[in-house]
Amino acid sequence: MSNICVIGMGYVGLVTGVCFADLGNTVNCLDIDHSRIEKLKKGVMPIYEPGLEEVVERNVKAKRLFFTTNYAQALKDAEFAFIAVGTPSGVNGEADLQYVRDVAESIAEEINHPITIVNKSTVPVGTGDWVADIIRKKRGKNALRFHLVSNPEFLREGTAISDFMNPDRVVLGSLNREAVESVATLYQPLRAPILITDLRTAEMIKYASNAFLATRVSFINEIANICEELGADVREVADGMGLDKRIGRTFLDAGLGWGGSCFPKDVKALAHMAILHGTHPQLLQAVMEINHNQRRRVVMRLRQALGGKLVDKVIGVLGLSFKPNTDDIREAPALEVIHLLENEGAEVQAYDPQAMENVAKELPEVKLCKNPYQVAEGADALVLTTEWNEFKQLDFKRIYSLMRTPILMDSRNQWDGNALREIGFTYFGIGQGNQVNNNKRD
Ligand code: UGA
Repeated sequence: MSNICVIGMGYVGLVTGVCFADLGNTVNCLDIDHSRIEKLKKGVMPIYEPGLEEVVERNVKAKRLFFTTNYAQALKDAEFAFIAVGTPSGVNGEADLQYVRDVAESIAEEINHPITIVNKSTVPVGTGDWVADIIRKKRGKNALRFHLVSNPEFLREGTAISDFMNPDRVVLGSLNREAVESVATLYQPLRAPILITDLRTAEMIKYASNAFLATRVSFINEIANICEELGADVREVADGMGLDKRIGRTFLDAGLGWGGSCFPKDVKALAHMAILHGTHPQLLQAVMEINHNQRRRVVMRLRQALGGKLVDKVIGVLGLSFKPNTDDIREAPALEVIHLLENEGAEVQAYDPQAMENVAKELPEVKLCKNPYQVAEGADALVLTTEWNEFKQLDFKRIYSLMRTPILMDSRNQWDGNALREIGFTYFGIGQGNQVNNNKRD
């Protein structure tokens, strides 16, 4: 069993630390945010992530998992230091590396024994070498024996623990065989394929993976828009494509497009890197553009359905987090839709099972409701923006009786349009061209 320090208690760092502790290692989790660490010490999770609290509690009790803000304490006996700090978007879309630099400098200041530094933060290709340089410079003549390994993380919010414990692959990038093998032993219990590459290739695998998944979603959204015009149904198109083993069905759900703390930032950063090095990332640019248009298109369709204007219309919004099972509202499609609606003079009332606290801070003008029925009350249209389970089987007859105008915009394709039309609703899905034509026929 190993002694591990994980630096940065965001999604990736916290889940990594907690899961390594659960595998039997001693893990010191560090963050410079005192209030976050104090809360974690009391068992209060800084994020909503199913299953996380139990695993934290179990490992704290077993004295394998510790939280601290003190570098010296966290690194004292560490064989591995995992860097898992944020790399937010800078002004031009580039990844901002100030937190990675701070960590590199702190490691250089605090350690006096050989160590393997493992980078899990999503960083521009070449950052591994840059981090190594920072440490070497900072140490000067008092050289530190260390190796750097890139170990990109592929876990998703909402299923983070099981993604960590059951990865499709573990990617390790380093030119030092011994260092890579020592990190590989940490992952051995997970029995996943381990791919060993050089540092820069591992860093690129992370960006390419996220960009490819975002591309699939934008691709199906573009097909959805064409389906709407041509009278086809994108859900069945995706099923038909997905049965081809070369294509597969995942990440082909048309909707409001991708959001969250990763895809938007990473696609932007990859495009920025490409431009900086003289290549033209046309595909990535189109992928981003399609994604923004998806939100605008939903608002345009609502405007059309409501007689050409949204001024003083009351729009109910179901779901605020960027996807179900998380309270994360970073780059959430729902928030962009709300902004667009408000810009056109609409009033928004909304509900989300987990993200209301975060939204109250960011969008204080939005009326937050207690449940989906309150959202429907007096609404001129209801938009499904995040496909939480609790929105899947609502009492639509009750909703019909509560709304001022019975218009449903199912922008995650979760509801049965035909059944809803029978109740009396005007129903719109995404890429359901066959149903759009039915609407026209009605
Ligand atoms: C994503 C990747 O899936 C993870 O592998 C990666 O580790 C993570 O980013 C990261 O870089 O940290 P996450 O942001 O949690 O994970 O979200 P996803 O489940 O990938 O969904 C991203 C967005 O795409 C969501 O807004 C979701 O609603 C949207 N999406 C996804 C669709 O619109 N359609 C789909 O078919 C699938």
